[in-house]
Amino acid sequence: MTPTVQYQENKIKIAQSFGSASKSYDVSARLQRFSGKHLMPWLPNRNDLTVLDLGSGTGFFTDLLASSYQQVIGLDLSKGMLHFAQESRNKEITWLEADVHKIPLQDESVDLIYSNLVIQWCDPLDVAISEMLRVLKPGGLIIFTSLVDGTLHELKSSWRQVDDDQHVIDFKAESELSELFNTPISKILEHKCQDIVLEYQNVIHLARELKGLGANHLPKKRNRGLSGKDKWFAMTEHYQDFLEPSGIYPATYRLYSGLVAKLNI
Ligand SMILES: C[S@@+](CC[C@H](N)C(=O)[O-])C[C@H]1O[C@@H](n2cnc3c(N)ncnc32)[C@H](O)[C@@H]1O
Repeated sequence: MTPTVQYQENKIKIAQSFGSASKSYDVSARLQRFSGKHLMPWLPNRNDLTVLDLGSGTGFFTDLLASSYQQVIGLDLSKGMLHFAQESRNKEITWLEADVHKIPLQDESVDLIYSNLVIQWCDPLDVAISEMLRVLKPGGLIIFTSLVDGTLHELKSSWRQVDDDQHVIDFKAESELSELFNTPISKILEHKCQDIVLEYQNVIHLARELKGLGANHLPKKRNRGLSGKDKWFAMTEHYQDFLEPSGIYPATYRLYSGLVAKLNI
């Protein structure tokens, strides 16, 4: 399969996976709520701006942005997510079903791009970044969060002891993400990286939350050896190594937050 066909197939699966999670998403979105709110202090304090919420999901943050800015556009790959958002959010918002790698907006038409926990799904990311910079006006900002390497290390290491299949998506290294956003026409003004450790009653609770978030699509999953059920059981046994004395199962999310400016050149 050529890389282009592979990317297209992956995107269809990502859209389906998020679409089927649209109704349960808002209750499973502890991490998304935390990270999205955490970006708020970077938002510009003027309201005459055109803002693009890239990968808007159920539109929770698109709605918040619409209460502060003149024109707000929510863009997402998933029909299911967009349908949910359209039904329940501010009626002034414009919704676009589109791919971050091919944004259907004119060059230099947007003042601010807000994107919460979407960039980790973008492949190839350099193409997505070129698109963001194309639609952004000179002097415009990208304010985003993404997950980087170190995320779900407990789950990755538990699965690694069972088989060599890929069970968790590959997250980029912090340095790689910074390098991709520093281009001849853009510069990272500020960034930070922090570990958020969420607590789960058991591994099923973690798996349900990942499923509820639509974050269960994996590009290269294969199945060999032990049956799915046996493998799952073996993995949960290894996850016990991380069990806290209080009986809680931790899962680490390494959150990268970035403030990027398109240079005025
Ligand atoms: C983890 S959710 C975050 C949703 C929202 N930003 C929030 O904070 O609740 C990721 C969203 O990105 C969307 N997405 C993933 N890849 C995309 C792509 N290539 N183009 C547009 N949207 C994409 C998914 O459909 C999903 O709605």
